[in-house]
Amino acid sequence: MKKAISLLLASLLLLAACAGVQAEGKAMLYQSNFTAGTDGWVARSMGTAAVEPVEVNALKVTGRQSDWNSAGRDFDLIPGVEYALSVQVRQDDVDSADFMISVAHSRGGVESYENLAFGTAEKGKWTLVSGAYTPDAYDNYILYVETTGAPTLDFVMRFFRIDAPQGTAEAANHPDLEIPMTTTENGEIPSLKETYASYFDFGTCVPGMQARNAEAMAFNLTQFSILTPENELKPDSVLDVAASKRLAAQDETAAAVHFDAAKPLLDFCKKNGVKMHGHVLVWHSQTPEAFFHEGYDAGKPFVTREVMLARLENYISGVFAYMQENYPGVIVSWDVVNEAVDDGTGKLRKSNWLNVVGDDFVNRAFELARKYAPEGTLLYYNDYNTAILGKQNGIVKLLESLMADGTVDGYGFQMHHEISFPSMQAIEACVRRIAALGLRLRVSELDIGIPSTSEADLAKQAKMYAEIMKLMKSVSSQTDAVQVWGVTDNYSWRSDKHPLLFNADRSPKPAFLAVIRPEAVQ
Ligand code: XIL
Repeated sequence: MKKAISLLLASLLLLAACAGVQAEGKAMLYQSNFTAGTDGWVARSMGTAAVEPVEVNALKVTGRQSDWNSAGRDFDLIPGVEYALSVQVRQDDVDSADFMISVAHSRGGVESYENLAFGTAEKGKWTLVSGAYTPDAYDNYILYVETTGAPTLDFVMRFFRIDAPQGTAEAANHPDLEIPMTTTENGEIPSLKETYASYFDFGTCVPGMQARNAEAMAFNLTQFSILTPENELKPDSVLDVAASKRLAAQDETAAAVHFDAAKPLLDFCKKNGVKMHGHVLVWHSQTPEAFFHEGYDAGKPFVTREVMLARLENYISGVFAYMQENYPGVIVSWDVVNEAVDDGTGKLRKSNWLNVVGDDFVNRAFELARKYAPEGTLLYYNDYNTAILGKQNGIVKLLESLMADGTVDGYGFQMHHEISFPSMQAIEACVRRIAALGLRLRVSELDIGIPSTSEADLAKQAKMYAEIMKLMKSVSSQTDAVQVWGVTDNYSWRSDKHPLLFNADRSPKPAFLAVIRPEAVQ
């Protein structure tokens, strides 16, 4: 399957290159890449012919009964202009078949036809069909792709393009529909961030080690428009326990912070103008036990609620003050609280926060984040297992209470899924339910585990990624970002489950292509 993808990508490039040669001296006027459906192509037939987008960048023609049954599209051609026409076709059924691009035009209600471009496609091979056309004056023109002598053959077509002399009037009316490509050490591949640019940010978490790896970060720059430190802004990286302990001798409410671990990624984002999503201010996990105890000594009793809230205020104000001073504008959004809801009961989970502060700790944390965050910073509550109803009810209740306080902007769906669980229906239901609350949304930590890297499992993984991307596109006006939780499988926190979009050598997996063009995945 991996090989198939490299071949597919290679052939995409080859085809783009050969179309470029063929159209020398002319400018591309129109190109159908079928990146977003049928691009206006319809089935031409009296019977059952149909067209449907398939694979990446292709349109399939099925159910034909006559040579002329085909995919056709209206074009606003100008009489006297010399057009170059080309399309790539492939058929998998007969040794060889002849293809043509033809035109159906009409004048005074009488339709007539001309065959314009020709090519012979051997079984299984993408084949260029090309020719030229200088139209006479007609009322309308339908260009279509048909066969000669293979009336029922199914076929696939892609890269239909029309080139014309530079400056032809309507060039500006036909935007280039190509999938944006980007150059990597593996050659040219599509770019996630460019593909989703008009929908939402596409991001990833970056482990601290990788932030120091220039090659890895150059790749990340081509693919992602928002980055999150995987661990380096969690309280166990940020809270300076030794310094806090020293300060606590005078003032129990002190909380000293430092950012040594997060600096490389912060510097990278600042230098390259990449947004960062901060993760995370308040969490039961990856938080030093000493934070909750007198004198920052885990062996001593818990501090009082008042001291803990004052420590929290000092911690949060310290984080925002440092960022404002050193990295203004870099962190556009924060997970303020992570995973506060219990899996089983939907109530707040047992934690030091609940124990020491009480059951309003989430509300208080959001109030403090709102107080100190620069204006416009989006504040998120983030959690997992949102698709499971009991927990979902608890999450919704918590969100409603934060909305009543006016302190929360959005909800982050972690989405650490398996191909077998949860179901897409459950995922869709939870996204729609939380979207209906009117909050901003993000998929904060997407990865999808598979038991093996068999072709079948990789295909199932690709399909689930595609379904999730289609779902998030359907709520794109409310969605700030979709972020995967890592880049290559080998560095994933769940690497045994191969859950990400890229192999260890950063070559794309089927899931990557599914995210690039989810509509093409059946
Ligand atoms: C994970 C990291 O990926 C690991 O490197 C670390 O050892 C444990 O935490 N939910 C979260 C993330 O909110 O912070 C977690 O990240 C994954 C689950």
